[in-house]
Amino acid sequence: MSAIKTINKIKDMQEYSDRIHEGGECMVFIPTMGFLHQGHLSLMKKGREVADVVVASIFVNPAQFGPNEDLAAYPRNIERDLELLEKEHVDIAFLPDAKEIYPNGFQTYVELNYLPNHLCGLSRPVLFRGVTTIVLKLFNIVKPHIAIFGQKDYQQLLVIKQMVCDLNYDIEVIGAPTVREKDGLAMSSRNSYLSSEERIHALSLYKSLKKAMEMVEAGVKDSSIIIKEATDIINSHPDTLIDYIEICDSETLDSMTTIDRPALMALAVKVGTTRLIDNMVLKP
Ligand code: PAF
Repeated sequence: MSAIKTINKIKDMQEYSDRIHEGGECMVFIPTMGFLHQGHLSLMKKGREVADVVVASIFVNPAQFGPNEDLAAYPRNIERDLELLEKEHVDIAFLPDAKEIYPNGFQTYVELNYLPNHLCGLSRPVLFRGVTTIVLKLFNIVKPHIAIFGQKDYQQLLVIKQMVCDLNYDIEVIGAPTVREKDGLAMSSRNSYLSSEERIHALSLYKSLKKAMEMVEAGVKDSSIIIKEATDIINSHPDTLIDYIEICDSETLDSMTTIDRPALMALAVKVGTTRLIDNMVLKP
């Protein structure tokens, strides 16, 4: 049994937060959906560096899953998560109940007009409305000074920064680098769905990003040539289905045909039944 302090009720979390504010301490918040891996733990470490009090939440947010997505199957292991958070010296694990977060009659959602109409937002139409709604609710409950999100979910990070700016939230949003396995696979809770065969094919995402980086460094500027190469790499692996491969502006997410400034290359690929995403910033 882990000894980390947990809070379940919204009111208790708000009162705890009020006491931290009264004491003049700086609070950092790292929201998660649990089933923690080294990527999450790197966010906790960063949190420990930048603030006095570190709060992490674990909540598998139903509002960001579409009807045919993996909400029911999403991996969960709260006991293990709490032990890992304790080892990272996280002060509070906030574990709210879905019924309290979304009570009967809940009807207010937060939606951005532009950034979600790109990349993952096109194939997962409710994703960003669900993410912004839960993140804003968590911000109102936890009341942090700083919040940390991983750059693996690059579009999510941009969407949250935009929301914080548009709605004048006094919260500093920090993006932290993607953590990879030794062979380059980006860490994700969804990697746990992969069979050992699929795990090998999942490497095609990283391989195609690395190849793109090499091509840009060698002077290739035409996005379509790079996307064609990445498509070939991924399609050469069985059991893969490309959702999208995009090279786009790293702030607006608008497509870029010529890489004449740093550009985001982002991709989503189904490996077996598991949808994986990854990205890199290509610098000419
Ligand atoms: O990145 C995630 O794990 C989730 O989208 C988040 C930010 C915790 C919101 O549910």
